[in-house]
Amino acid sequence: MKPIQVGLLGAGVVGSGTVNVLRRNQEEIKRRAGRGIEITMIADLDTARAQALAGPGVKVVSDARAVIANPEIDIVIELIGGYGIARTLVLEAIAAGKHVVTANKALLAVHGTEIFAAASAKGVIVAFEAAVAGGIPIIKALREGLTANSIQWIAGIINGTTNFILSEMRDKGLDFDVVLKEAQRLGYAEADPTFDIEGVDAAHKATIMCSIAFGIPVQFDKAYIEGITKLGAADIKYAEQLGYRIKLLGITKRTDKGIELRVHPSLVPTRRLIANVEGAMNAVMVQGDAVGTTLYYGKGAGSEPTASAVIADLVDITRLHTADPLNRVPHLAFQPNAMSDLHVLPMSDVVTSYYLRLRVADEAGVLAKVTGILAALGISIDAILQREADEVAGEGATQTDLIILTHDCAESEMNAALAQMQALPTVLAPIIRIRKEELA
Ligand code: HSE
Repeated sequence: MKPIQVGLLGAGVVGSGTVNVLRRNQEEIKRRAGRGIEITMIADLDTARAQALAGPGVKVVSDARAVIANPEIDIVIELIGGYGIARTLVLEAIAAGKHVVTANKALLAVHGTEIFAAASAKGVIVAFEAAVAGGIPIIKALREGLTANSIQWIAGIINGTTNFILSEMRDKGLDFDVVLKEAQRLGYAEADPTFDIEGVDAAHKATIMCSIAFGIPVQFDKAYIEGITKLGAADIKYAEQLGYRIKLLGITKRTDKGIELRVHPSLVPTRRLIANVEGAMNAVMVQGDAVGTTLYYGKGAGSEPTASAVIADLVDITRLHTADPLNRVPHLAFQPNAMSDLHVLPMSDVVTSYYLRLRVADEAGVLAKVTGILAALGISIDAILQREADEVAGEGATQTDLIILTHDCAESEMNAALAQMQALPTVLAPIIRIRKEELA
């Protein structure tokens, strides 16, 4: 049978990995797919870069629309990224009847509803394994492997840049700014790392997993997002002393009141496997009612790890494109007419436990006032740690750090407690609040 013809938009890091892995493993991939898979066109504004990648017989163009317009092309791989031209091209490819493979988490988290509806109307597949956690086949696991389960929650380290930074901060006792510069020097962090360090990239991925887990439309605008820029080495050290590591987690959870969708630094017990995921690696925990806890670990970025996911999608499409669209795996795991209207909770309604660090005057009655505020709001304390003032703030210091771990309470209650505690004259600096997840 004639090989399936693929057009590649974007000859960058992932594009080159995709060409190289397809070329290297072509025989095995063909034996699995039942048919050859060939990239026959590459579009990139930098045609020299695309030409360097293209082998014999591969047509290089600078205009992505030339790929979409080619009737011989069955599948378009979108590796341009972003919400702008990528959205236009994906919609045009769908309208032209092409199946689409994309690694673009931002695009799907924000415009997924429009894109999946267009694809369903046209009877084409939009595949996106590479969009979440790079080489880890988490979309496949959630959509197919765990399909028997009522998923209860997902918690993932789904941004390698921030995990690298947090690992370095813990290992070397360095502050965020110092490690960020080092990460940029080593090429782990982008020149503009905003999406990574502010938690936006992780929130894009969490939004996609949330939809697949609970059968709700993608709702990036409802995600609560907090990055790692305000974390200090002191909090990482205190967390360690209390038996926790700080990780940037993407969390989505089913509760009686609705769905939680949030990204923020979290204390995780050191004894959990996920707390020991270090460097730029990713890991995703999924809790299903039947299977219990499962954990998926691997490289969340990089040329060939991400290409691994892109090619898995190419193979899926090669096997499935002749199937009746109604018999394919739905884009968001649930049939489009069986989506749920469960709503995403505002952060104020989320219930979790907390780590608090208060820089306080080291004098009589301070602890009583702080614990009194928590008690009056019904917030129960789990543990308290206070170091000698000298050790924290230097010889002869008259202030110290008070670390409090709480039991579960609603975020709105904690906000009220923080406002009252912050107003105490003996609380000398902005209170640090980090949420805590037991992941039991
Ligand atoms: N910038 C992402 C990360 C990889 O650091 O994990 C692509 O999503």
